[in-house]
Amino acid sequence: MNTIPSDLVRLLRLVKCVAVLTGAGVSQESGLPTFREAQTGLWAQYRPEDLATPEAFERNPQLVWEWYATRRLKAGEVKPNAGHYALAAMEKRVPEFTLITQNVDGLHQRAGSRNVIELHGNITRVRCSRCEARFEEWEQPESGVPPCPRCGSKLRPDVVWFGEMLPPRELNRAMAAAKSCQVFFSIGTSAVVEPAASLPHLARLAGARLVEVNLNETPLTPYVDYFLQGKSGEVLPALVKQVWGEEESAA
Ligand code: OAD
Ligand code: ZN
Repeated sequence: MNTIPSDLVRLLRLVKCVAVLTGAGVSQESGLPTFREAQTGLWAQYRPEDLATPEAFERNPQLVWEWYATRRLKAGEVKPNAGHYALAAMEKRVPEFTLITQNVDGLHQRAGSRNVIELHGNITRVRCSRCEARFEEWEQPESGVPPCPRCGSKLRPDVVWFGEMLPPRELNRAMAAAKSCQVFFSIGTSAVVEPAASLPHLARLAGARLVEVNLNETPLTPYVDYFLQGKSGEVLPALVKQVWGEEESAA
């Protein structure tokens, strides 16, 4: 049973403004692979430069399109886990709550989180590689990459690839949330990919307390006030229960 330090429980009961950054670790217990885990991580099996860069898409659009189609299918087959639901419950109990995610699987929204900032896009959406129009549905030809219904250029996954800029609006909102929160959680992320990895430091420098939830230590761990080691699907429900009591019945 994950016991949450009593001073953190007291702090969270009084807190008005919380920001959370999540990474692939939050979706690991739903059955989605993370990126950097030695055996099972996506980047252990594939080379990101072959699949998650604009050059890769230019070089072999079909391969990139199909790899994301497989990941999209998998994301649709899995369900949010207790960690996702605990974050949705936390949002209901904290007056100002911002959930910033690096994940593209859409599981936070499916668990009921509302104020979600998708820093790296969302795999369930596509956008035109030229006119930038975005689509939640599209005509999928037998094979090949579908054309933009508006301008005919190739559609692409609406996710951020390596070497690409993050969506400015989302990044600005995430930085504002990091600067104004009293407590910043970093959950299930290796805290190495910029600019997301800078958000906890932005919060700390603005005076926030840092809480990290991870299976292992990360480069952020030396800077945090609380390191809650364990699975987010276990630690987060325990935290919500100890701070705010039992979830009122779903009815
Ligand atoms: P990583 O795979 O880099 O890190 C996953 C983190 O989750 C690691 O620190 C694990 O220890 C931790 N973890 C795994 N299972 C967990 C669990 N059940 N509970 C808690 N923690 C767990 O994934 P990210 O940090 O999300 O970017 O990677 C950041 C970005 O790098 C991704 O958004 C993606 C990737 O390349 C792009 O694609 C642009
Ligand atoms: Zn277009």
